[in-house]
Formats: sequence, structure tokens, C-alpha cells
Amino acid sequence: MLRTSMRTMATAARKSLTIGLIPADGIGKEVIPAARTAIEALGSDIPTPKFVDLIAGFETFTRTGVALPEETVEVLKNDCDCALFGSVSSPSKKVVGYSSPIVALRKILDLYANIRPVVSVSPNPNEPSKVDMIVVRENTECLYVKQEQLTVGEHGKEARATRLITERASTRIGKMAFELALARPRKHLTVIHKSNVLSVTDGLFRESIRAIPLQDTRFEAVTVAEQLVDSAVYRLFREPQIYDVMVAPNLYGDILSDAAAALVGSLGVVPSVNAGDEFVMGEPVHGSAPDIFGQGIANPVASIRSAALMLRHLGYIEAAKRIDNAVDSVLREGQLLTPDLGGTAKTREVTEAIAKRI
Ligand code: NAI
Ligand code: MG
Repeated sequence: MLRTSMRTMATAARKSLTIGLIPADGIGKEVIPAARTAIEALGSDIPTPKFVDLIAGFETFTRTGVALPEETVEVLKNDCDCALFGSVSSPSKKVVGYSSPIVALRKILDLYANIRPVVSVSPNPNEPSKVDMIVVRENTECLYVKQEQLTVGEHGKEARATRLITERASTRIGKMAFELALARPRKHLTVIHKSNVLSVTDGLFRESIRAIPLQDTRFEAVTVAEQLVDSAVYRLFREPQIYDVMVAPNLYGDILSDAAAALVGSLGVVPSVNAGDEFVMGEPVHGSAPDIFGQGIANPVASIRSAALMLRHLGYIEAAKRIDNAVDSVLREGQLLTPDLGGTAKTREVTEAIAKRI
């Protein structure tokens, strides 16, 4: 799925793997160390990992006046093979000078795809998962270009936001989604949009993706369906099994994947990678969870699975499987679960149990 360059990099005899760690804010500081522990437990299945601690986030902003220090970006670009990002605490009110570092990083590193597998763990290892889908979210445009204006009109304040959808970005995210669908047993892709209302922007997204199999006949093997975003959420809850791979513009993809997380027990188990042609960055789907930060009870599974996903995208398939199998086994056993999954275990206990089984 990623260009061969990235996969070749993995299969070439690389001596070490330099991984940037950016815990950022809140529970990011609790779950990124867990992901590191899981990677360390792999031993010789991957080149010797070298971890580089990097800073970013709202706390960094309040301390230094910059949310994403130049040095963090430079080290990621020049020294790291891949990275793991925790979560940021972005304030809901505008703070002058602050802008989310994760949104910025996705753009700077051109990590145009946010790939979010949402998979339930079946009670019996031989049974297929009830929920098994991948939400592929466009990561660089839509309303996340953050061009907002506040003006005062005749009747008071008026706020406007620009929504950017380009053929280029829609086509490349569409190709990524087709590749993922092609590699799965069901080979089914659902294009999510709202082009009955937003016929120009979502219309372009939809048309760009529809055009892809006409240019690359390999993708004719993929069945393509469409669903308006609102009814997609409805159907997601009623009949999640109809979905295999879903591709969506940035905002819909964000909302859909959080919603899908509810189907598999918790936001704390859903991983993602931000992928481009040159770089990959794992990131749990959840935010900084200020309601539980500091208690040592954050579920580490989303971050641990994000590490697996990152390794998978670099071509270390067996290593990724070992991590995922260990997570499945701990979740299936149900003895050590964090409170979001109904248990009483601490982040550290779950992490140690997973690391032991890797
Ligand atoms: P959230 O994802 O942080 O939390 C939502 C709910 O899920 C909370 O009840 C939380 O306790 C629970 N939860 C999330 N992750 C969990 C985990 N690993 N284990 C156990 N429970 C978990 O979303 P919320 O509350 O809307 O946002 C909080 C902050 O996070 C905000 O400042 C927001 O800007 C930021 N955020 C950052 C993201 C990122 O860094 N990519 C993504 C989403 C939100
Ligand atoms: Mg989200």
C-alpha cells in the first residue's frame, strides 16, 4: 500500500529503527511509554529500535510559546524512520498563537491518509470478528485547513469556514483506500460523502474516487458502494458488518471512526496510522482524556496497536502480528482490563501482561 520505497526500506538489512516518540499531552504521556514497552518486547524481530523523545502539544505551547517546536519537525524529518504520537489537549476556545501540532504534523510530513482499523476481538480465536472495518480518513484538507473568519454583519456576528477538497488529495486517498480494500478478503469499499447537499465539494470527492478504477483496472475487483455520511452513522450502529473499507473526507472520517470505536468497546482500543509515501506515524484515535489523566488507568491498547500498525506499514508484518496477537489474547482472557472496558486494571498492568505475551 505504501510505495515500495518504504517497504524496501524495511526488508533491506537495516541495523536499527529510529522511532520518534511524541507523547504530547494528557494520557499521551501514559500510553506512549506503553507502546515503547511493546516494541522493546519484540526483540530481534525488528532492527534494534532507537527511541528519540520529542516534544509538542499544548503544555509545550504554554511553556515555550510554540506548540510544535522546529527541532521536533527537523528530527522527525532527518533522523527518524517513523514515529508515534500520543494526544494533544487542544482548547475549545481560540488561543492566540496556538494551533494543533498533530494537524500541522500531518501537513508538514504530508501524511495524507489516516488509516483507522476498527476490529472487535471475538471470544473464540477461531471465530471471525463481528466488527472488522477500516476507516480511511483524508488527512490534509476539508474543514481542517482551518481558514475561519469572524465578521460582523447587519444582524451580528457571522462566522465562516473554508472547506477545501481537491481532486489530487481525493484521488490519492481514494487510491490508498482501493489498495487496502483489494488486499482484504471482501474487497468492498464504501465512499462516504454528503454530495446531496455539498454537491461541489463532496461531489468532487465522490467523482475523484469513482474515477480511480477507470484508470487502474486492478481495482475493478473491488466492489464500490456509496453512503451519505448521516445514514452511514445510522447503518454503522445497526449493521456494522456491511462495512469493509470506508473512505471519507477529513471531518466525516474523524467522526465516523470515533463512532465506530463505540462498537468495539472503547476509544481506548482503536489505533491509527498517519501515512504518506515517505513517512508513517502511529497515533491512537483517542484524545488526551483529561477526565482520567494522572490516574494511571488509561487503556494502552490503542497506542500499542498503533505501534503494530506502524510496523506493519513499514513491512514488519510478523512483528506487528505478534503485538496484535498478544493484545487479542489479553483482551480475550478478560482478566486484566482497564476501567473503560469494565475492569479495574492499571495501564502498567495491562502493558506488562501484553509485553509478556509478545
Ligand atoms: P478523548 O478521546 O480525549 O476522550 C473521550 C472519552 O474517552 C473520555 O471519557 C476519555 O476518558 C475516554 N478515553 C479516551 N481514550 C481513552 C483511553 N486510552 N483509555 C480509557 N479511556 C479513554 O476526547 P475528548 O474528551 O473529546 O477530548 C479531550 C482532549 O483531547 C481535547 O483537548 C481535544 O482537543 C483532544 N483531542 C486530541 C486528539 C489528538 O491528539 N489527535 C484527538 C481528539 C481529541
Ligand atoms: Mg477524533
